[in-house]
Amino acid sequence: MTTFQQRRRSLLHSAAGLALGAAISQPARAAAAPVSASAKPDWEALAASYDIAQDFVNLENAYYGIMPLPVAEEFKRNIDYLNRYNSRYMRRDFDREGIEAIRAQLAAHAGVPTAELAITRGATESLQNLIVNYRLLKQGDVVMYGNLDYDAMMYAMNDLAQRHGAGVVTVRIPEPGTRQAVIDTYEKALRDNPRTKLLLLTHISHRTGLVIPVAEIVRMAKARNVDVIVDVAQSWGQLDYKLPDLGADFVGANLHKWIGAPLGLGFLHIRESRLQDIGVHMADGDYPATDIRARVHAGTMNTASVMTIPFALRFHGQIPVAERGARLRSLRDYWVHRVLDVKSVQVLTPEEPGAYGAVTSFRLRDRTSFEANVALARTLSDDYGIFTVARNGPVGGACVRVTPSFFTRTQDLDRLVTAIRKLAA
Ligand SMILES: Cc1ncc(COP(=O)(O)O)c(C=O)c1O
Repeated sequence: MTTFQQRRRSLLHSAAGLALGAAISQPARAAAAPVSASAKPDWEALAASYDIAQDFVNLENAYYGIMPLPVAEEFKRNIDYLNRYNSRYMRRDFDREGIEAIRAQLAAHAGVPTAELAITRGATESLQNLIVNYRLLKQGDVVMYGNLDYDAMMYAMNDLAQRHGAGVVTVRIPEPGTRQAVIDTYEKALRDNPRTKLLLLTHISHRTGLVIPVAEIVRMAKARNVDVIVDVAQSWGQLDYKLPDLGADFVGANLHKWIGAPLGLGFLHIRESRLQDIGVHMADGDYPATDIRARVHAGTMNTASVMTIPFALRFHGQIPVAERGARLRSLRDYWVHRVLDVKSVQVLTPEEPGAYGAVTSFRLRDRTSFEANVALARTLSDDYGIFTVARNGPVGGACVRVTPSFFTRTQDLDRLVTAIRKLAA
């Protein structure tokens, strides 16, 4: 047995060996993880806690995060438990206290009071509900978003504007998007559009990987009486911050990307003093208008996913998020620094501290159409066994997004570097 297999086996045993309780066992279970709180993270052991397909190199980990095996095992146990106990568990336990205990844990994790957080099915639901129910927009006002924001949120902003007779302004984030250039761009956009009432910001762009200096822009916007809704789908779990650090009153997140929880989980945050400015969702009557839970009505959720939240948070929390983020950035640096000297390669995140996380996109000069980048991603997959994805929307044209994760090995990145250098030649 290789060291890798041994490590993985011991990790699995330590997770599987934890006692199974009779009722809702999940909250009491410890999350087996490859480090103790004080020790340096063992990245090899963390990598070994993932069961990864071996027939291709996965560098498209920004879609959603593969669950580490202990989390996946816990999720399966929860599926089985629910399947046995059915409505009795849901009605007597989960609907009353279970979900509330989980919400409280999630709020503590996010650094906000429980009354300021509601569980959702993901970032899209969180942000759509915040946007379409925003109550302060008036005819003639302006809503503003950036070309690097997420499509579904742009649609929701358009919908809100249309329903209120408001205008829409799109901010074009410059390339290269240095921190100062981004701040200056938003500063100018806000100055040029004094009727702006609502601004959407995406903390880490899913198109290029650029980190937007959210706290600075929120401060600037608030000084102009502009409200900000922040999309932290790609930053939550990989950048080291708590929600209050952003200064934003409205935030939407998910847990199935960088937290590594099961698919179909997220949360929305509304600062308590601003709750009345987001209307109840679809005239919800289950909760009073003074309760944030009236801003989501998801119906019967994937309860096994929700039950797995505490375990996933504990597993994730065994390695401080600052260390996780540094690890991801070092994997990004590994490949980027080996192609930066190639003149025809354009890297879409700047070499600037704090300007990127795991995600970074590139393009080959003059290959700016979406089709050309779909073809490039296809070539990387077909000819080199490397899975990435094409993205469009940046001002300089489309690109290919590369996203390593905790199981990515430097050999995988060497393969990517070889491929990019060959294709660029
Ligand atoms: C920036 C950004 N916002 C929102 C989303 C949507 O997230 P969810 O899958 O949780 O709805 C994504 C997903 O890729 C994203 O990258």
